[in-house]
Amino acid sequence: MNPTGATYAGKLALITGSRRGVGRLVAEHILRNGGRVAGFARGESTIDHPGYHHFQVDIGDPASVQQGFAALKKVSDAVHIVINNAAVLTSQYAMIMPPAQAQAMINTNLMGAFMVSREASKLMRKGKWGRIINIGSMAVSLEPIGDSVYAACKAGLTTLANVMAKELAPLNITCNTLSITAIKTDMLAQLPGDKIDAVIAGLPIPRYAEPDDIFNIIDFLASERSAYITAQTIYMGGVN
Ligand SMILES: NC(=O)c1ccc[n+]([C@@H]2O[C@H](COP(=O)([O-])OP(=O)(O)OC[C@H]3O[C@@H](n4cnc5c(N)ncnc54)[C@H](OP(=O)(O)O)[C@@H]3O)[C@@H](O)[C@H]2O)c1
Repeated sequence: MNPTGATYAGKLALITGSRRGVGRLVAEHILRNGGRVAGFARGESTIDHPGYHHFQVDIGDPASVQQGFAALKKVSDAVHIVINNAAVLTSQYAMIMPPAQAQAMINTNLMGAFMVSREASKLMRKGKWGRIINIGSMAVSLEPIGDSVYAACKAGLTTLANVMAKELAPLNITCNTLSITAIKTDMLAQLPGDKIDAVIAGLPIPRYAEPDDIFNIIDFLASERSAYITAQTIYMGGVN
């Protein structure tokens, strides 16, 4: 962390899923370090900070995303950093997965990130600078039973970033994916703890992720220092 607390000075980061879990942790980190944050989530704000602007948006609904951007533009005409973090998880065997739950994962986890990146990149183009960071998952590599659609969405997120990286490189916008390991949030609490413990025990670095593990990579990917890094996926904890 920059000792001046100003790592993000002058920057506005749009974070989806900023109400809880990883999104909230990252939002508070950026606010602590001098940035402004626009948060998109379905529910009401849980962050009280003068640099935080909350927008109730269902990213799984393209019209809601466009309304969110219209409201955001009244607060800021620039978005410098996007963190596509919001996601939903239903873990179930494919044969009994309710189609509506599968569709909800596709709408939020993949289409939502596409819509937010699409709209944000138009604003980044005007500012001739941008960083898009997708939050992926170790599920892409581990391919856990029950997570066919979730893992496929997360794999799709990497492809989305990689193709958009080519389209947006001439505009000085980078697109990368941070694939995170298990970290204690509401989403993780949905899964059986003993099974997650066993997965973690099998990782090259056999521990749960800590907030700082995530902040360190986001700080780099969001900074000037990563200007020559695009279309890359970083796996945490030695997953590959
Ligand atoms: N936790 C882990 O162990 C783990 C491991 C690997 C990857 N990940 C990934 O890390 C990211 C964060 O996960 P988390 O554990 O922090 O999840 P979480 O605790 O369940 O929080 C999810 C956040 O996403 C928001 N959200 C969900 N659907 C939305 C929608 N349609 N529109 C707008 N916002 C929506 C929620 O907003 P509301 O509060 O308004 O519902 C909430 O703020 C996700 O991409 C997840 O796939 C997590």
